[in-house]
Amino acid sequence: MDQPIDGGATAVARAHSNIALVKYWGKRDATLNTPAVGSISVTLDALYTDTRVTFVPGLAADEFWLAGCRGPVTRISHVLDLVRGHAAGLGLPAAGHSAIVSSTNNFPTGAGLASSASGFAALAVAAAGAAGLSLPARELSILARHGSGSAARSIFGGFAEMHAGTAADGSDAYAEELLDREEWPLTVVVAITEHGEKSINSTIGMNESKATSPFYPAWLDSADDDLDEMRAAIRDRDFARLGELSEYNCLKLHALMLTTRPALIYWNAATVAAMHAVRALRAQGLPAYFTIDAGPQVKVLCLPGDAAAVQQALALVPGVHEARISALGPAAYRLE
Ligand code: DP6
Repeated sequence: MDQPIDGGATAVARAHSNIALVKYWGKRDATLNTPAVGSISVTLDALYTDTRVTFVPGLAADEFWLAGCRGPVTRISHVLDLVRGHAAGLGLPAAGHSAIVSSTNNFPTGAGLASSASGFAALAVAAAGAAGLSLPARELSILARHGSGSAARSIFGGFAEMHAGTAADGSDAYAEELLDREEWPLTVVVAITEHGEKSINSTIGMNESKATSPFYPAWLDSADDDLDEMRAAIRDRDFARLGELSEYNCLKLHALMLTTRPALIYWNAATVAAMHAVRALRAQGLPAYFTIDAGPQVKVLCLPGDAAAVQQALALVPGVHEARISALGPAAYRLE
């Protein structure tokens, strides 16, 4: 976060990562980055990205710095271009300026801990702020979606639902809050089984699933049922139903990944061992349920009073480096 400011307009934002309970995999429109299915997630307090955006007069091109190292700028510039477009409509100076974007994550990047979700949500809030725009949360969610589909949900805290939408321009593909985190304070224990970068990123993986898996049509057909049931479980604060459905939807996603050609195998041995450990806890009467994204980490949903026991059980699983407890997190916000 030491880049030159040069009198440009700056804003800093923090956005928290999220974990989908009903997952997004597959795009309706790749250019607009609209999802083929809706999704429901919880935002995580313990994992976040801080991003500073500065529009700099005279800067030749956008720059992206992640933890002090230069990073790829294509998706970032795409989001910045949309912000510049909004700014141009209002005659704001940021419309004509390139930007310096500096980010830090407080967790490993690119290993299935949703750094793109928190990253693009923080970028949307910081870029809009630096440009002098005051956009409603729905617009910020759409902006974040252009960077990464899951980021649309990280604009919100607690429980969020992303709508797949049907509009040709993507204007109804946004997330909104379903429930504030105070209204149902669940806990997620994150078991980290690997610190390295994952092999196939989500964007490529989901396009391959769409193109090759015979399960893809069934994935699309069954999504609305899962969304309806998850909304009902959240409305009724029915933890067993939420947990069972989360595991089911997660395993359905991984069945789709496994039947993609070439196969997307995101699990390692510790991932599988952690899944069995969670099922063993449940057999002993402790309600805990796993979910896994496009990476080897295992996220375990539980009630706050059981978090320490779940953490202890996961820490004993061979190959689990660390088990981190997280409460549900807040919406993305400006840090100044
Ligand atoms: C498995 O949001 O990373 O985590 O829109 O192509 O950037 P892009 O994909 P991304 O995909 C997330 C996939 C997932 C499930 C989820 O978060 O819903």
